[in-house]
Amino acid sequence: MNLGLKGKTILVTAASRGLGFGVAEALVQEDANVVICGRTEESLKAAVSNLGKRAEYVVADVSRQDDIKTLISFVENKTPGLDGLFVNAGGPPPGAFSNLSDKDWEEAFKLTLMSAVWLTRESLPLLKKTEAPSILYSTSISVKEPISNLLLSNAIRPGVIGMMRSLANEIGPEGVRVNAVCPGYIYTARVEQLIGSDKSVREGLETNIPLGRMGRPDEFGATCAFLLSPVASYIHGALLLIDGGLYRGMM
Ligand SMILES: NC(=O)c1ccc[n+]([C@@H]2O[C@H](COP(=O)([O-])OP(=O)(O)OC[C@H]3O[C@@H](n4cnc5c(N)ncnc54)[C@H](OP(=O)(O)O)[C@@H]3O)[C@@H](O)[C@H]2O)c1
Repeated sequence: MNLGLKGKTILVTAASRGLGFGVAEALVQEDANVVICGRTEESLKAAVSNLGKRAEYVVADVSRQDDIKTLISFVENKTPGLDGLFVNAGGPPPGAFSNLSDKDWEEAFKLTLMSAVWLTRESLPLLKKTEAPSILYSTSISVKEPISNLLLSNAIRPGVIGMMRSLANEIGPEGVRVNAVCPGYIYTARVEQLIGSDKSVREGLETNIPLGRMGRPDEFGATCAFLLSPVASYIHGALLLIDGGLYRGMM
């Protein structure tokens, strides 16, 4: 299917590896231009060299408002308007209530919620200049069902969904589509770090996934590219699980 993304410019944050990279790769395969960011220049250079000439990078930590301003200025200097924004960040650290400090909460709040607020605010004027703009927020299955020992994710990510659903009403009338995706287990460096190298832990988790395996970043990327594209023109305010059936709730 032609997603109609040829020549469009899309900003994909936290994308030197993992889910963000999967999205950038899927977009580039559709002949879109991407700007990616991350905190480490070396990883970004490697990512851009894998993505090819349609990709550029900016070193930016999305938990810092100044870095987001720098990132958006780069995009603005490159193109008159922005066609899409994929909002992603590193995951907040694991932990249970009893061992999280105020500092942990404050940092996770900036990383997970304020990054989405700042990216949205700074990008909106550029998005509104294009024909079919779209924002896609990447959250987690934790917004449907808490994951043990990931209290910060469980508590703060639902705020991103609340913002997305409110924005659907506020900026939908101006032609900006907003949606969110909720990954279950997509095998990336972060998942590897969370579950460790013990094969039996991975197998135990996969037994609980109806499709019998974790997802791949390219599968995640393809779905996100579709949602960001004009082909998904009537999908707005939606929250889509990409989890191989792991979440068993009816709603
Ligand atoms: N993989 C899954 O199954 C899964 C499921 C649910 C939710 N999630 C969430 O999805 C997000 C991405 O996960 P992942 O599995 O792709 O992780 P990953 O493999 O560790 O990749 C994280 C990417 O984000 C960048 N990054 C981290 N912190 C950043 C920051 N503050 N500012 C800008 N870039 C930053 C990293 O580059 P640098 O380190 O160089 O900055 C890297 O490119 C996380 O929030 C994670 O919790 C993942």
